[in-house]
Formats: sequence, structure tokens, C-alpha cells
Amino acid sequence: MKKQLIALILALVPFTALAAGGGNVHLDKMEPDLYDKASLQNGAKLFVNYCMGCHSAQFQRFARTAEDLGIPQDVIEENLIFSSSLKYNDQMRIAMQKEDAAVWFGAAPPDLSLETRLRGADWVYTYLRSFYADDSRPWGVNNAVFPDVGMPNVLAPLQGIQEKVCDPNHHVAEVDPLTGKQVGESCLKITKEGAMSKAEFDKAVYDLTNFMVYAGEPSKLESNRIAPWVLGFIVILFFFAYLLKKEYWRDIH
Ligand code: HEC
Repeated sequence: MKKQLIALILALVPFTALAAGGGNVHLDKMEPDLYDKASLQNGAKLFVNYCMGCHSAQFQRFARTAEDLGIPQDVIEENLIFSSSLKYNDQMRIAMQKEDAAVWFGAAPPDLSLETRLRGADWVYTYLRSFYADDSRPWGVNNAVFPDVGMPNVLAPLQGIQEKVCDPNHHVAEVDPLTGKQVGESCLKITKEGAMSKAEFDKAVYDLTNFMVYAGEPSKLESNRIAPWVLGFIVILFFFAYLLKKEYWRDIH
């Protein structure tokens, strides 16, 4: 009985509340757009290039990504599949072993297929832009959203070096008295430029997160595409049902 009760309580606690590693950090909003094919394609490219060294997306297949995002098979094979042991129809796996990774990074990089559903798109979008220099950490970086994270800032060549510069006069670490959440701007500031401007980098991370949202629920694109046809069918069906009803009741009225 006690076990069931605990299970019930766990089921009722929203996942995101449990998963919000950063606690009270303000999350930047990102509105996914699954119709923006260019964004999804760019996100897929960034994902395989910058993330799949360590993270898999094993619930997704390369072929599915290609078909949904309109990328030709040869482009996928030449540009997105790096390991010779992986084929077009394979799941998006990686070669790194979880046990090795746990030793190297202190924590194994989790599979990212369902990451945006677990943490939320806003969380992922903010997390990837919130690494800052911290010499006390093994990789020289920490993260404002996920303190003491085991992941290096792999996007640093694009973003540049970010530092935490909390200026007490700057309305930064202000906390909302009602929600306890941090409001206002974050204390993070780019101190050394990367290959991209801030706006370009934000867009790149937007695309990457957008792709991860798509990969978390690939059938959503398909359902959205079919939806108008289903509704159209119901409208037509209604019309004929109405005619039939008139026909049946004609002599009775
Ligand atoms: C060099 C290896 C490496 C690369 C490359 C890498 N990560 Fe990670 N990542 C990690 C490790 C290790 C963790 C686990 C950190 C921990 O739990 O302390 C992690 C954690 C994460 C998490 C948080 C997972 C959670 O606990 O919910 C996200 C999100 C994430 N990575 C996204 C990405 C994305 C997106 C990319 C590509 C831009 C990427 N990572 C590239 C090693 C890597």
C-alpha cells in the first residue's frame, strides 16, 4: 500500500519540477517551430557535429530524420553519419561506452532523444547558453542552469568565452518574492568573442533545441500534416449524415 502511495505521489509531481537541476534559475523562452525545415535541418547538423560525439539519440533513426526534414539520403550519408559502423537506417547511436564516459566525465552523457520532454525546451535552450568560465571545474567551465555539470562547453568555439559577472548594481540576481525565481537579466557576459555573434549563437542554439524537440516526438509533424484532412473528412461526413437524417425524418414531421 505504502509503495503504491509513493508511486502515486511521484506520478503527480510534475517531471520538470524534479528535473530542474538549476533550481531557481530564470529560463529563457524558446517557442519551437516544427514547420521551420531550415531551422530543423541546421539543428540536425549541429546535433551530429557537436553532440553525437558523446550523446546518442537512439529513439530516432537517421532515415526518419532525413525523410521528415527533407534531407536527401546521400547528403545524410556524407555529412551526418560519421561512424563507418552506422548505416542510413540505423538509430542515431554513438560508439562511446557509458561506463567509459562515466569515468571520463564523472557522469555518463545521457541519451538525448527525450531530453526536451524531460526538462522542457526552455531549459535546454537556456542550459546550452549558460556555460561560464570556472577554473575550479575539471573542464574549466560551470553552468548556471546545471551547477557542477560534467559536460564541457562544446559550443565554446561558436559562442566564445562567457563569464559570470554579477554586478550588485545591475538588477541581476533579483529574486521574485512570490515564486522565488531569479528575474531580470542573467549575470553571464561574453568576455571573449567566438565565431558567432550573440544573436547568431542564440539562433544556432534555437535551431539545435528545435531539432531536439522534433526528435522527442517525430510523429507530431506527421499528425499536424494529417490533421486538416481528418477535420475535412469529419465536415464532409457531417454533411452527408445531415442529409441522411433529413431523409429519414421527412415523412414523420
Ligand atoms: C565531450 C562530451 C559531450 C559532448 C560533445 C556533449 N555533451 Fe552534453 N553532456 C555530457 C556529459 C558528461 C553530461 C552529463 C553531465 C552530468 O550529469 O554532470 C552531459 C549532459 C547534457 C545535458 C543535461 C542532461 C540532463 O541531465 O538532463 C544536456 C541537455 C546536454 N548534455 C546536451 C548536449 C548537447 C545539445 C550537445 C551538443 C551541442 C552536447 N550535450 C555535447 C557530455 C557531452
